Amino acid sequence: MLTNPVIETLLNRKSVRKYSDQKPNDEVIATVVRAGQQAPFSGQLCSLLLTRKKAPYGAPLWFTICVDLHRMELIMAKRGWTMVSNDLSMLLFGIQDAALMAENMVIAAESLGMGSCFLGNTPYRAEHIQKQYKLPKRVFPLVELVMGYPAEEFPTRPRYPVEFTLFEDRYPELMDDMVEEAMRLMDEGYLAQGYYRKQKAKIKLEGDREETFTYDNYSWTEHISRKWGQWLKDPTELLAQMEKCGFILEKE
Ligand SMILES: Cc1cc2nc3c(=O)[nH]c(=O)nc-3n(C[C@H](O)[C@H](O)[C@H](O)COP(=O)(O)O)c2cc1C
Repeated sequence: MLTNPVIETLLNRKSVRKYSDQKPNDEVIATVVRAGQQAPFSGQLCSLLLTRKKAPYGAPLWFTICVDLHRMELIMAKRGWTMVSNDLSMLLFGIQDAALMAENMVIAAESLGMGSCFLGNTPYRAEHIQKQYKLPKRVFPLVELVMGYPAEEFPTRPRYPVEFTLFEDRYPELMDDMVEEAMRLMDEGYLAQGYYRKQKAKIKLEGDREETFTYDNYSWTEHISRKWGQWLKDPTELLAQMEKCGFILEKE
């Protein structure tokens, strides 16, 4: 594989959950934000909220990345247009813009010696964030990103093998041995770091499934299966949060 400083930065990145007291100065913040803005966009359908108040994991910076249709509608109005494109399409474009901006910020931060961690519960706190930051309608808080100088050292986390990710010309039939090898790499990688043990992050079993895992064998594939095998069955709450922000996703 080739390497250079950009590739190295990308390959060394990991989510940081412990931060030093050192505060990033305004120039550092401006650099990260400008690098974020320069990501490709479908329509600059994203904006950023920042607070320097105490953030999760003790981070000095706490960004909220929003899907933002409000600014676009202001611009379109000045051109004599109204947005008629459906909210689901606009949301997908907005998520793509926001995700690309956010990841540019993550890599810029990494290159400046900082670390970061996303927080994914944001859409379920949308109304709260709307009130906190006085968001206008048509701005939807998508994901939060805390950032600062790391106060912990650890190796990068594993990923699927490339053969389980890159499918050239046709999507293959994924045989058992390929699936199991991908699972083994992920699980052994996380176990070797004591990732879930350190975070005490075992997800409780609901219903009548019996707990047979300890932190000696509880790892990523079990964790992720418990999440999406138990949580978020009903979209009502999320749809209500979106509606509060002026995004209507149901078919009229
Ligand atoms: C959309 C999204 C939401 C996430 N939410 C959380 C979160 O709520 N809390 C957390 O500690 N990490 C969160 N993460 C970080 C992931 O757990 C982390 O990226 C993943 O375990 C891979 O580890 P790495 O980033 O160190 O390679 C989130 C990441 C993404 C992209």
